[in-house]
Amino acid sequence: MSTLRLGDIAPDFTQDSTDGKISFHEWAGDSWVVLFSHPADFTPVCTTELGMVAALNVEFAKRRVKPIALSIDPLEKHGLWVKDINETQRTTVNFPILADEDKTVAKLYDMIHPNASTTSTVRSVFIIDPKKVIRTTFTYPASTGRNFDEILRVIDSLQLTDSHKVATPANWKDGDDVVTVPSLQDPAELAQRFPKGFQAVRPYLRMTPQPNK
Ligand code: BEZ
Repeated sequence: MSTLRLGDIAPDFTQDSTDGKISFHEWAGDSWVVLFSHPADFTPVCTTELGMVAALNVEFAKRRVKPIALSIDPLEKHGLWVKDINETQRTTVNFPILADEDKTVAKLYDMIHPNASTTSTVRSVFIIDPKKVIRTTFTYPASTGRNFDEILRVIDSLQLTDSHKVATPANWKDGDDVVTVPSLQDPAELAQRFPKGFQAVRPYLRMTPQPNK
């Protein structure tokens, strides 16, 4: 097991899930993927997290993203817990939860941090693009539920900056002004790419309206 880094290919695996056996790359197809681990079934923070991901189903689908959760609990336990999530969070879990009891995936993706816990996965997130490249990772402790709006915001940024020569500033959200990439210096290209114009606050800091809005 080695630490996965941005730009690495997300390792492929086959594992059981609440939607049947999943061969990861095949299952992902040409979608974006958010692979996220949680510490254990029947725990309060995890219950709210999985309910939130289910509630954001339309937002993930709009961005062509498939969520997939994981814990190292067995499949039967996942099945019972999903009923609880649906009931308590008033939603329908509509994405697979990997039953990684043998820790195949947890080991591949370094989701067990032994100095935090030897018996459960931490809250890891991997945002993976359609070419299976890992584009974002982050790790939260067991006691802190994740902000899934932030995950959607990062995906918005990745999808925008993949298709336009821009980057997104601090606290940016979809629709806000963006910055032009500093390497772009040719005035003709700048004019062609940013017909709405840009404000050069400094030569390296040029603000422009989001080009696809
Ligand atoms: C939870 O999901 O609620 C949780 C899991 C492990 C430790 C603390 C909280």
